[in-house]
Amino acid sequence: MEEYKVDLKKYIADVKDFPEKGIIFRDISPLMTDGEAYRYAINEIVAYAKDLNVDKVVGPEARGFMVGCPVAVGLGCGFAMARKKGKLPRETVEVSYGLEYGEATLQLHKDAIQPGDKVLVCDDLLATGGTTAATIELVEKLGGEVVGLAFLIELLGLKGRDLIQGYDVFALMEY
Ligand code: PRP
Ligand code: ADE
Repeated sequence: MEEYKVDLKKYIADVKDFPEKGIIFRDISPLMTDGEAYRYAINEIVAYAKDLNVDKVVGPEARGFMVGCPVAVGLGCGFAMARKKGKLPRETVEVSYGLEYGEATLQLHKDAIQPGDKVLVCDDLLATGGTTAATIELVEKLGGEVVGLAFLIELLGLKGRDLIQGYDVFALMEY
């Protein structure tokens, strides 16, 4: 953990009725465009994960890449992309899921995870948990073990944790 604290919520823009009426979109862009806040947030996740013996970080497209890639570099391990259907060029496994505003299918290359790999799943935000549950399912289909789930933001009202019970969850901000 860093010895000082950054008030990360100052760097989240709350946008009403995006992408649909009734949704408050928590936009992480200001956090990412501030070098100190971004570095601080990533270092906090690295500190959370450093004793989990992570072999690979997996992040779902697209904002999961923004969090997962620098965390993987900080941990000194590899990163695997869980991409929306049709983007990965080689053999994949896939899972379809629902999220706060819509539905999607995620794919992972079959050789992205080796059986027994300890995996940290990273994303910007936990809402209904659909994306995270799908990412966990992809990792487990390939024989990986999910040892932790890390987010910048958790939306408590959507009860995403109910879909991912039994896994260790770390979130830097709650709404
Ligand atoms: C957002 C966000 C999470 C997911 C959370 O991704 O980045 O991955 O929704 O919602 P859930 O917990 O209800 O699944 P989105 O699918 O909008 O894609 P993006 O990262 O490409 O913007
Ligand atoms: N992904 C799912 N729900 C979201 C929200 N309310 N804000 C930003 N990203 C999201």
